[in-house]
Amino acid sequence: MLQNLDAYRLQAQKSLPNEVWRYLDDPGENRNTQALKRVALMPRPLRIFRSLSTQLTLFGQSFDHPIILAPVAYQKLFHPDGELASAMAASAQRAQVVISSLASCLIEDIVACFHQEVAAVNAAPAPWFQLYWQAGKDATLQLLQRAESAGCSAVVLTVDAPAKVASLQLPAGIHAVNLAPALQEASPGGFGIRNLMVQAPTWDDVAWLRRQTKLPLIVKGMLHPDDAAQAVDLGCDGVVVSNHGSRTLPAAPASIDCLPAVVQRVNGQVPVLFDSGVRTGQDVFAALAQGASAVLVGRPYIWALAADGAMGVAHLIRLMRDELEIIMALTGCAGLKDIGTACLHGA
Ligand code: FNR
Repeated sequence: MLQNLDAYRLQAQKSLPNEVWRYLDDPGENRNTQALKRVALMPRPLRIFRSLSTQLTLFGQSFDHPIILAPVAYQKLFHPDGELASAMAASAQRAQVVISSLASCLIEDIVACFHQEVAAVNAAPAPWFQLYWQAGKDATLQLLQRAESAGCSAVVLTVDAPAKVASLQLPAGIHAVNLAPALQEASPGGFGIRNLMVQAPTWDDVAWLRRQTKLPLIVKGMLHPDDAAQAVDLGCDGVVVSNHGSRTLPAAPASIDCLPAVVQRVNGQVPVLFDSGVRTGQDVFAALAQGASAVLVGRPYIWALAADGAMGVAHLIRLMRDELEIIMALTGCAGLKDIGTACLHGA
């Protein structure tokens, strides 16, 4: 078994075809990772607590820890089991997983895999579904209702990738199997999402979508506090501070640098989640200390998936959780509620 994240990344790079690695990898991610590394945490020794807990409740759902697998498209590119492997690993490690609109496995199969794994343990909240706005309200509603019928327990509307263009030509047999046929295939010389996002959503569409589902609605891709506030005003249940892993607007600020202002503006009205650049349990802690309720992890679990399938992903989640617990012990935090700005150097 590989020992750490660097080993998984290296192994993934070795095992993936060049063009797939180039699609996954992005020099822009350094902006996010380096900003997270700059967050200085204050050790607080000699505090005695009997037990340490990473448990939390989000949108009425209970979780053992705050590490969530981010929606990542076309996971069969990285491993033949694709999203099924990630769902299995997530449930084995009691992590939440967000199914991408561009998943390469059927939503129903992914949900079934997740439940199969947890059945022996105890009931866990079903996976969340990441929704990309489709070509019009009818197609969007159809996809939403498909995810609802499959049993998904929350909707994550991604709004920061209305025009993402990638250079990857999808290999035969890998496509967005849950979308209407016209949208499934990558455009010649381009990537499916170019077709997919021809019609980008607006705030009016978010307001409309809010009325279409009783599930928690979380908006992903907020960096500006005004945008987060507007999502809350429209009745959304949560926001994800994210720059899409630095894959959309290259000059966007580091995601972690935007978190405090969003947290301040949202002012506890809804949970604020965080992603982009999280690589270690220390990064998870840094985001929680600045007000995030939970974090989404993208590339790290895909490296583990490529290197070692479901086993790799499960191991990676465990590594991050262990690291988080160690940092909590070193900073004198017995539970997630103890993690806050007081844990930061200079607070
Ligand atoms: C993504 N991301 C993404 N987000 C989304 O909402 N729907 C999607 O289909 C995808 N697809 C996707 C593919 C690949 C290859 C990557 C790397 C990312 C963005 C993802 O959910 C998350 O925001 C970032 O990956 C977080 O940054 P890190 O952890 O990768 O640095």
